[in-house]
Amino acid sequence: MSIPSLDDEELVKELDSKDMLGITAQYPEQWEEAIQRAKKTPNLCDASEVEHVIICGMGGSGASGDLARVILEAEMEVPIIVSKGYHLPKFVSNRTLVFVVSHSGTTEETLSCFEQALEKKSKIVIITSGRELATRAFSLNIPVIEIPGHLQARASIGFLFMPLIVTLMQLGMISNRPDELSEVLQVLRDMAKKLAFPQPTCKNPAKQLAIDLYGKIPIIYGSEGITGIAALRWKCEFNESSKIPAFWNILPELDHNEIVGWQLADRFDVEFALVNLREPCDYSRNIRRMNITTSLIGNKFKISREIWAEGTSRFARLASLIHMGDFTARYLALLYGVDPTPVDIIWHLKARLGEGE
Ligand code: F6R
Repeated sequence: MSIPSLDDEELVKELDSKDMLGITAQYPEQWEEAIQRAKKTPNLCDASEVEHVIICGMGGSGASGDLARVILEAEMEVPIIVSKGYHLPKFVSNRTLVFVVSHSGTTEETLSCFEQALEKKSKIVIITSGRELATRAFSLNIPVIEIPGHLQARASIGFLFMPLIVTLMQLGMISNRPDELSEVLQVLRDMAKKLAFPQPTCKNPAKQLAIDLYGKIPIIYGSEGITGIAALRWKCEFNESSKIPAFWNILPELDHNEIVGWQLADRFDVEFALVNLREPCDYSRNIRRMNITTSLIGNKFKISREIWAEGTSRFARLASLIHMGDFTARYLALLYGVDPTPVDIIWHLKARLGEGE
């Protein structure tokens, strides 16, 4: 199968209409700006009264909640939950801190949760670029972290995610972590240098992985913790940026069901590619499981690859996996001859939902 060269500038000019690759290379600057913006949030609540934290958001915005939860849940004294839907759990009260995260500020599921949080008199923080939502929040004296609106939600992952961390730090609900944040930014800088478009395919692991994945359905596996949540992000990126089907799952759970489903995979006229996301400090039983699982089902895949997280802290390692996945999916879009930015079917669906209301 002949595929275009990922070093061809003309290909990028022709397909990448909104400079998604340039935006991905600028993650270090974006994540840093996000930290600075969030530090300026006025009117934060009294954290001593908070008994639970809920992060509401969908798609690229909801992903920020997944990342925050996986980084923070082992440290926080109170539960931290991600809500991706129309309804808040019944226990939500005036002792719940509710983050309402919506890049556009118009996502109906997230707005529904916002209304419920208002009814329950929860403590609310809003992260959005949406003028209407921000204006309403200001009028209610609710803190708003405003983010730029010109990027796609999923390309704004730093703007959406870092404010969650910084706000919880400002509230004293998690420890201050300046060294960890510096390492996150440093790892993103290192990744950007290694993976950005000017780095030729022969030296660029994201371009190489995109080429390997071309023509196959990616199956991304991680384990409970950072590699599992990164696997979900990779899957969504292959869907939204590369416009292809992709699937993900988490160890140890997949060893209790999905592993059996590979038995008859050869009967289908499809090539699958296995991508195992790995990190050196994974729980030892999960490391062992991933090795054994791959040895048992590896022959069902046309190719099998391991991607190792980089960095010292879990936070930096998570950021490195996100950056590698985002670059890979966006390069893969170019191989398929599609623009990585638009997600027309999502906008079409949202428009249809709004019809005749
Ligand atoms: C678009 C994207 C979508 C949106 C989702 C929710 O790039 O990633 O998944 O994030 O449709 O919309 P917002 O983020 O505006 O609340």
